[in-house]
Amino acid sequence: MQFGHFDDLNREYVITRPDTPLPWINYLGCQAYFGLISNTAGGYSFYKDARLRRITRYRYNNVPYDFGGRYLYLRDNGSGEFWSPSWQPTRSAIEDYSCRHGMGYSIIGSTYQGIEAHTRYFVPLNENLEIWQLTLTNKRDTPVELSTFSIQEFCLWDAQDDSTNFQRNFSTGQVEVEDGVIYHKTEYRERRDHFAYFGCSRQLDGFDTQREAFLGAYNGWDTPAVVKAGKSTDSMAHGWSPVGSHHVKLTLQPGETQQIVFVLGYQEMPVDQKFDPPGSQIINKAAAKATLAKYLDPTQADAAFDRLAAYWKELLGLCQVETPDPHTNRMVNIWNAYQCMATFNMSRSASFYESGIGRGLGFRDSNQDLLGFVHMVPSRARERILDLAATQLSSGGAYHQYQPLTKRGNNDVGSGFNDDPHWLIIGVSAYIKETGDWSILDEKVQYDNQAGTETPLYEHLQRSFAYTLARLGPHGLPLIGRADWNDCLNLNCFSDTPGQSFQTTTNKNGQVAESVFIAGLFVHSGQELANLAEARGLQAEAARYRADVAKMTATVMAHGWDGDWFLRAYDDFGHKIGSKECAEGQIYIESQGYCVLAGIGLEDGVAQKALDSVRTHLATKHGIVLQQPCYSKYYLELGEISSYPPGYKENAGIFCHNNPWVIIAETRLGSGDQAHDYYTRINPSAREALGDLHRCEPYVYAQMIAGKDAPTHGEAKNSWLTGTAAWNYFAIVQWILGIRTELGGLTLAPVIPTTWPGFRATRVFRGVTYHIDVKREGKGSQASLEVDGIAIKGNTITPPSDGRKEVSVKVTLR
Ligand code: GLC
Ligand code: GLC
Repeated sequence: MQFGHFDDLNREYVITRPDTPLPWINYLGCQAYFGLISNTAGGYSFYKDARLRRITRYRYNNVPYDFGGRYLYLRDNGSGEFWSPSWQPTRSAIEDYSCRHGMGYSIIGSTYQGIEAHTRYFVPLNENLEIWQLTLTNKRDTPVELSTFSIQEFCLWDAQDDSTNFQRNFSTGQVEVEDGVIYHKTEYRERRDHFAYFGCSRQLDGFDTQREAFLGAYNGWDTPAVVKAGKSTDSMAHGWSPVGSHHVKLTLQPGETQQIVFVLGYQEMPVDQKFDPPGSQIINKAAAKATLAKYLDPTQADAAFDRLAAYWKELLGLCQVETPDPHTNRMVNIWNAYQCMATFNMSRSASFYESGIGRGLGFRDSNQDLLGFVHMVPSRARERILDLAATQLSSGGAYHQYQPLTKRGNNDVGSGFNDDPHWLIIGVSAYIKETGDWSILDEKVQYDNQAGTETPLYEHLQRSFAYTLARLGPHGLPLIGRADWNDCLNLNCFSDTPGQSFQTTTNKNGQVAESVFIAGLFVHSGQELANLAEARGLQAEAARYRADVAKMTATVMAHGWDGDWFLRAYDDFGHKIGSKECAEGQIYIESQGYCVLAGIGLEDGVAQKALDSVRTHLATKHGIVLQQPCYSKYYLELGEISSYPPGYKENAGIFCHNNPWVIIAETRLGSGDQAHDYYTRINPSAREALGDLHRCEPYVYAQMIAGKDAPTHGEAKNSWLTGTAAWNYFAIVQWILGIRTELGGLTLAPVIPTTWPGFRATRVFRGVTYHIDVKREGKGSQASLEVDGIAIKGNTITPPSDGRKEVSVKVTLR
């Protein structure tokens, strides 16, 4: 069953019934002010950091599921009936409901008893605010007198504290109301130098700032006392729960349309200008007022919306493809790229499944997220790389996570995830391949944010690589530490105490358990680093890296190969994990995908064997599961992986993030059919028709789809914030379509399905627009290139030296 449809022309997904299986959400804002918004207007906003600067409040795991958000109530003052045009919170019998999730905006609305209402929510570029534009039309043949009530609940900034420290927080809340604008200023009187404001384009008929006054002590959001009565109480919040609600009355003639604009914003003030008059306790509102005056004007709001649309048109225009498969086109051209912006901004911090207080930006996650983002806004990728590198430790290891607001490593989680450092090499390499900006390697970057420790970024990469060489185990494979990419393979944890963190508990000294996955990653990052070294004229150093890579490859073949597939690891007792010898967990996906992606065994049939084993043992129609057989009980020596019930998450779920590694591996062996087939199995657009089963949004990837051992096989979970976004974008664009960035230029090496006659693409690369036309003349993937009519040798196009800005490329596949 479907709950809506794609509108590719407008780059929107149109949800046509409000009762989607789960809230289907969108992100507002793409720079510093962010919001999450569901298809019924649920969600919240924050500035930069979902934990430390939460602007509005949201309650996770609520009942009903998604309650609390950017709500509007309409009240027919004639009959006293009221409803919400976004369905929630009142869940009235609305008609023609639709929610259009677009690029950085959502338009939600419906018609109720002849009153049409739609609200467009978005965050203008370069502003720390959001706009709600409500458009009302009277389709009745009689005039109507309406009341409009807005409401959102302020969070007292620190989302963690806000949801736990009630003995203090019920006394700290403070607001001001001036000229119909509601200012939320909790803790502004002491150490905070920021506040929120909520304004409305109309003269108010009243307002409320205390939640209890608005709702009534025992009412829910579906029956607010104020809305029922049709009258605000002009309440002032002194402690308890500050909210912002405006009341606007209006009369609509038959056929008449009116618009009301609401602006919710965040304002920081220099410490010496916080109060007006100075020395008072009153907020200096000058800056906020100026911004409000601008965006409460519907014309200015429209203009800001147009700028946002133009911005996204340009970003998406950097890579557009036209293939025979509509699901590929839609994901590459619109939604996958869009999701890559979200994962770049959020890492794994704030979604409807990530509470915004649990995790900041992950070191490995953010580095990988660059793969799908770097072509869009390279300058921000550059800044991110330097921020990440500055949290690296001098050992070459890394803080596993850092807080986006402070840009400091997160001590609660610490370090010791032994794959982490390598992702920095891969992220930096991807950045240079895209931009040709070698200067980044010379940037002086601190370790652990300590002044005086600066070295060039290049040395950070050297230390990343050396980190593993200094931590090899009994077989010469990399020690796993707390975990590798699989956060749940905790081989030094040995936890038998409920509530201990699997990630940070270490009960063994960690000198035995080794990871074949990190070995594959090392082979990959070592080649990337050698290429960088070579290009910098460091031939001897490059040769050393290549020798290390060759040695690790040999070690993998000697101690990491099980006969038909790659082993996954050795545990603390030196026992194999991911081997035929194991009772459960005999074969894992990560080492198959990553070792082949890294190029191990391509020539001698080993890679093919590994991928055949994936097909036989791990592939399902809903995607490739993480391991088989699943773990049926808890294994003390394996940790969290065996804590999940069979088929979920890391215990044999389809953990989508690692599927693209196999997809890329398949292309490395020239299997375009198999690669694209795997790609399609987890492509959300291709799964749209399975809405009842899949349950998550059909326009973005989810972290997980339940595996074949799960009672709900095929059910997706944890949508939006997943490395799947970047990796699948990378897999389809760079490896299947073969439009690949290299240090020396743009390589075209498509490995597409045999049934495809070809495809077209436009790719803007280092300021040049490449118009690519691929035609199949044989069944294989041998590519010959004509660049502006001239046949070239090989398949890498170097950027034109004569200043040409448009280049046509014909690719013939045989
Ligand atoms: C989560 C983490 C990621 C990890 C993956 C597998 O998605 O964010 O870092 O690699 O799980 O455990
Ligand atoms: C849990 C999850 C894993 C995630 C980790 C992050 O282990 O299963 O996916 O990466 O938490 O802390």
